[in-house]
This record gives sequence, structure tokens and C-alpha cells, in this order.
Amino acid sequence: MRRVAAIALAASLAGPVAADDVALTLIVRNGCGTCHVIPGVPGANGRTGPPLGAMSRQAYVAGVLPNTLDALAQFIQNPQAVDPGSAMPRLGLTEDEARRLALYLYTLED
Ligand code: HEC
Repeated sequence: MRRVAAIALAASLAGPVAADDVALTLIVRNGCGTCHVIPGVPGANGRTGPPLGAMSRQAYVAGVLPNTLDALAQFIQNPQAVDPGSAMPRLGLTEDEARRLALYLYTLED
């Protein structure tokens, strides 16, 4: 249900293809794949952080916040604001960029 809502929202934001293109560009530019396995993203096979292919089915974001779009975007934008001890770096993303990434992650199936 959450996954369907996320896809519908992604489509309403920019069209599904355009939204995915933006998210993929952000993933590559910010090196998410150097630390995470992200299904469907070539070369995204890092093992420093957890794999990101099941975010639509996880109960928590980073084991801390109940998994909602807002929580996921907030964590992606500023991990330490959610979990001060998080080893994920703050990457300087805007709120809009973090939401696009969160929406994209919700579309993935591992
Ligand atoms: C330098 C390594 C590194 C980079 C680069 C990085 N991350 Fe992370 N990420 C981590 C680590 C380590 C964790 C686990 C820490 C935690 O849970 O607080 C994590 C956790 C996460 C989580 C929570 C996963 C879960 O199971 O709840 C998400 C979502 C995430 N990262 C997304 C991203 C995205 C999107 C990018 C690129 C914009 C990115 N990360 C870039 C290291 C990284």
C-alpha cells in the first residue's frame, strides 16, 4: 500500500521516468552506491551501509524512525538529525532531492 502510494506520488511529481532519472542522477552524483547495494543501479554494490532494496517493506528507517516518506527523506537529508550516532554522512542534499531519493527507494524490489 505504501509502495503504491509512493509510486503514485512519484508519478504526480514529475512523471515516473523523469522522477527515476533525477533520482538515479542523484544516486550516482552522491556516491550512494559506494556504501549501499541498490538493485538496478549499476555499480551500486557498497557494503558500508545496509542494502536499500527493501525500503518499502522495512518497518523502520535506520532502525530509529517508523518508516514513512517524511522520515526516510529526513534521514537521507540529515542522518544525524534522526540518529546522532549514524555513520551515514550528511551529503548536502536539498529537501526536494532527499524526497525524490526516498520515493525512488520505495519503488525498488530486491
Ligand atoms: C560513506 C558511506 C555512505 C554513503 C555515501 C551513503 N550512505 Fe546511506 N548509510 C550509510 C550507513 C553506514 C548507514 C547505516 C547507518 C544508520 O542506519 O544510521 C546508512 C543508512 C542509510 C539508510 C537507512 C537504511 C535502513 O535500512 O533503514 C538509507 C535510506 C540510506 N542510507 C540512503 C542513502 C542514500 C540515498 C545515499 C546517497 C544520497 C546514501 N545513503 C549514501 C552509509 C552511507
